[in-house]
Amino acid sequence: MTHPTVHVPAAAPSRPGSEWWRTAVIYQIYPRSFADASGDGIGDLRGITDRLAHLQELGIDAIWLSPFYRSPQRDAGYDVSDYCDVDPVFGTLADMDRMLGDAHARGIRVIVDLVPNHSSDQHVWFQEALTAEPGSPERARYLFRDGRGVDGDEPPNNWESVFGGPAWTRVTEPDGTPGQWYLHLFDASQPDFDWANPEVQEEFRRILRCWLDRGVDGFRVDVAHGLVKTDGLPDHLPPLDADSMGGGSGDAPYWGQDGVHEIFRDWNRVLAEYDGDRALCAEAWLPTVDQTALWVRPDEMHQAFNFSYLMTPWDAAQLREVITESLRAYPAVGAPSTWVLSNHDVIRHATRLAMTTAVPQGYGIGPASPDQPDPVVGLRRARAATTLMLALPGSAYLYQGEELGLPEVIDLPDEARQDPTWFRTGGTRYGRDGCRVPIPWQADAPGYGFGPSERSWLPQPTSWARLSRSAQEHDPDSTLWLYRTLLALRRNASLGSGTLTWLDGYPADVIAFRTDEITVIANLGSEPVALPTATVLVSSGPVDGGMLPPDTAVWLSVR
Ligand code: NOJ
Repeated sequence: MTHPTVHVPAAAPSRPGSEWWRTAVIYQIYPRSFADASGDGIGDLRGITDRLAHLQELGIDAIWLSPFYRSPQRDAGYDVSDYCDVDPVFGTLADMDRMLGDAHARGIRVIVDLVPNHSSDQHVWFQEALTAEPGSPERARYLFRDGRGVDGDEPPNNWESVFGGPAWTRVTEPDGTPGQWYLHLFDASQPDFDWANPEVQEEFRRILRCWLDRGVDGFRVDVAHGLVKTDGLPDHLPPLDADSMGGGSGDAPYWGQDGVHEIFRDWNRVLAEYDGDRALCAEAWLPTVDQTALWVRPDEMHQAFNFSYLMTPWDAAQLREVITESLRAYPAVGAPSTWVLSNHDVIRHATRLAMTTAVPQGYGIGPASPDQPDPVVGLRRARAATTLMLALPGSAYLYQGEELGLPEVIDLPDEARQDPTWFRTGGTRYGRDGCRVPIPWQADAPGYGFGPSERSWLPQPTSWARLSRSAQEHDPDSTLWLYRTLLALRRNASLGSGTLTWLDGYPADVIAFRTDEITVIANLGSEPVALPTATVLVSSGPVDGGMLPPDTAVWLSVR
């Protein structure tokens, strides 16, 4: 079997002033589901180190590592009990140092997840708060309040948890009486910090430094739009409805408050104390790109996820608009635009792009969902969407497994589900487990080679042998080879620092632009479209007789 010839130059070594993050392709590793070296069915840091050669071969510039810190794992590690230590399920600090060193030796940078909005309820600070008095300095690190109603038995306000149900839980005081309530925008095991408290601010400077000292290249900042709440914690009016992380509403009293920016200016100064270009990337779900651009002004963060792009349906006019808006709004504040189609919180794009209904972020899809998308259409569109995305100027984020064309796993058995969303909504929202199923590496191995045993913390579909990396390695038409080819061409042509010029003369449901010497054409319509005479550099699907089929994208050389 012949493979396309792809020369993948190594990424440039870390060098101060290179601002690598402006054009980088950053690959998200969700450690529980990437590769399991210990055999307990949960991925770990040694598993990542063992597979770094695959990532180098893929041609990425950096890794974003989702949480691996000490944690009771109530929200898959986004409930941190010790921010500067590694959870035994993932390994040790020495494993982390080894992974970081090996990645750097391969020219791959590593940014780690920082979770500053909330800790685990097992964090020593929260445990101290529970045994301390109302009004004590220990309680003042979190958001404890008296309840409403005669006996204080109603929550302090009407806020809803992102995972469903009230955002408040009442504690029992040390003397056994029903006591105050604490705020948790997520699970009850994730109490929110009070960011007005200087002690919290100082603790996070220490946490940033503990990882910067170990050599990480930056941070992806969890819930970067939620740290500051409106003074007095007023009711949300009108009450929130189907809004999840905030992408759909601008005025919740806990999303996007002005005061949050001072925190990131402070962190920017902490990063500037270090050599090299360390970067901050905001996870901020906001209604518009202009609002999101506020997080990446010159003295704040360096990047923000472009969730407006991720949430845009497979529609040419809407995509043209969000791309145009992004390439205006982010550069206007001196930042690159980012692009992203999948992550561990959303329905994988190989499924989502064939859906006919918009599902709010985090709700997921399951066997009883009315919209059951066609997997063939989904994969075809996903390949076209990625082909379009990787030509865009700026930085792109990939989510592990998308290079294999993995779909969302829709038919997970109810008893296998682990997302707190599923439990907090009594099963009415499926949640995010379907995009977190462990990666198939080897077609003919137990657990598809995820680990040395057949164990896997979420069950893998029996159909995944053909999607495994080993199966695709020998197929030049595979999604794996499509990603490798796109990434190599993108790097060789420096498309990340390119400019985009829209091309006229195509039907309305076609996206066509030029970036440097490359013309990109994506057909989102239902009829084939004639291509100009040019050399095809890469295409997301078969292109015959000079015609571009529906749901297909192509890069042409117009030199
Ligand atoms: C966003 C993370 O990406 C998600 O997985 C997590 O559940 C919430 N923040 C809470 O930390």
